[in-house]
Amino acid sequence: MEMLVVKGERPLSGRVAISGAKNAALPIMAATLLADGPVTLRNIPQLVDVATLARVLVSLGMNIHGDTSGALHFETVDDSQQTADYELVRRMRASICVLGPLLAKRKRACVSLPGGCNIGHRPIDLHLKGLRALGADISIENGYVHAAADRLVGADIYLGGAFGSTVTGTCNVMSAAVLAEGTTHIEAAACEPEVIDLGNFLNSLGANIVGLGTPFLTIEGVESLSGGNYSVISDRIEAATLMIAAGITGSEIQLENAPLSHMTAVLEVLDQVGLKISSTANVTTVDGRGDRSAVDFVARPYPGIPTDVQAQMMSMMSVTPGKSVIADAVFPDRFMHASELTRMGAQIRREGSTAVVQGVPRLSGANVMASDLRASAALVLAALAAEGKTVIRRIYHLDRGYERLENKLNALGAKIQRVEDQPVEIPSVPSLSKASTPRSNRAA
Ligand code: UD1
Repeated sequence: MEMLVVKGERPLSGRVAISGAKNAALPIMAATLLADGPVTLRNIPQLVDVATLARVLVSLGMNIHGDTSGALHFETVDDSQQTADYELVRRMRASICVLGPLLAKRKRACVSLPGGCNIGHRPIDLHLKGLRALGADISIENGYVHAAADRLVGADIYLGGAFGSTVTGTCNVMSAAVLAEGTTHIEAAACEPEVIDLGNFLNSLGANIVGLGTPFLTIEGVESLSGGNYSVISDRIEAATLMIAAGITGSEIQLENAPLSHMTAVLEVLDQVGLKISSTANVTTVDGRGDRSAVDFVARPYPGIPTDVQAQMMSMMSVTPGKSVIADAVFPDRFMHASELTRMGAQIRREGSTAVVQGVPRLSGANVMASDLRASAALVLAALAAEGKTVIRRIYHLDRGYERLENKLNALGAKIQRVEDQPVEIPSVPSLSKASTPRSNRAA
């Protein structure tokens, strides 16, 4: 297995470009199932999650190929397939995005339920509620969602849940409703830019969706969607991660294609911390050389500070003077990274659903383990600022959602090596390994 070895305390400088948005690319790729003709997508990031979804789509009868410009071409060649298998879906929760498009286009869908997740409980009840409201017959058997509807009919659907709206749930229901008969009203729709991007893509193929970017969507069903060409938006989470890299290392860097209009809350909190961010044309300059101050914030659905930036912010606040109080209203238990940061010398205390971060003068390099995608990015950021060497294991999480983050950081002057993990010989204790637990002491 690969790991990252990071030599800390190196200032960053220079310019890198932001890639396409993972969370826009995935539902848009899934929605190509709805098209009657070939679809070309541009600005799709090269990520493990993108490759996983491509495999799901191929297993569903699609032909996918890339060209030298970096574009990906999608075309359905066999529409008889209706099953997204556990072996593929278990690798990535977002595979559930094929449920709505499959149901609407092929009238039947059988999609493995995504399993557990390190960032908290992640049910799909709202996805199923929305699809049922459109007339789907849905059951869960043997770990699979079975959905069937000879015809979907527009309906009024409320998609709010205890933790706000659902991003991929809105994508699923919206994607199904575009081919339903009549009008669908979705209330409490997610307003994330990635949901807007999916809606814009569907409209470019002939769908009729109004209200994108608001909690109220009106969708007039159409008979069919054509093929088309579309370029996905840039990744606001990657842009925020690199901005925080400038902050935590006290450096000045430039970013191309940073989607600032989707980042108002992040820019606001970074400004409060003390980063100076300015832009001309397509280039954003992030100046993190000044003093930093502590901030309190709560991660919330868009337009709030994204939960996907919470961990990276926590890394920066760990080495920012003063006390920062951080909460996550979307995934209230998403604090797995806190204990690994503590191993690097951070002072973080959980108090109920908040994390209290007392800034320390410096972190020190350590062996740490990534627990999920954004937690891995947080550890990379902490390692950039830490004294000495940090070794980060389980970086397959990082590769799911960042296009070789270490290459971009190295281009800015960081020193990060990707190396094979060398298994360490652990001494065995023969008398213990032979010992067996008496039957009466075994756990029931
Ligand atoms: C998407 C993003 C993920 C991001 C998350 C929140 C993609 C591929 N992933 O995930 O990066 O962290 O949004 O911005 O776009 N919930 C329910 N019932 C449901 C669905 C969700 O109760 O049926 C709850 C979840 O447990 C969570 C909250 O709603 O507390 C938001 O989840 P949701 O927006 O659905 O996250 P994802 O779409 O899975």
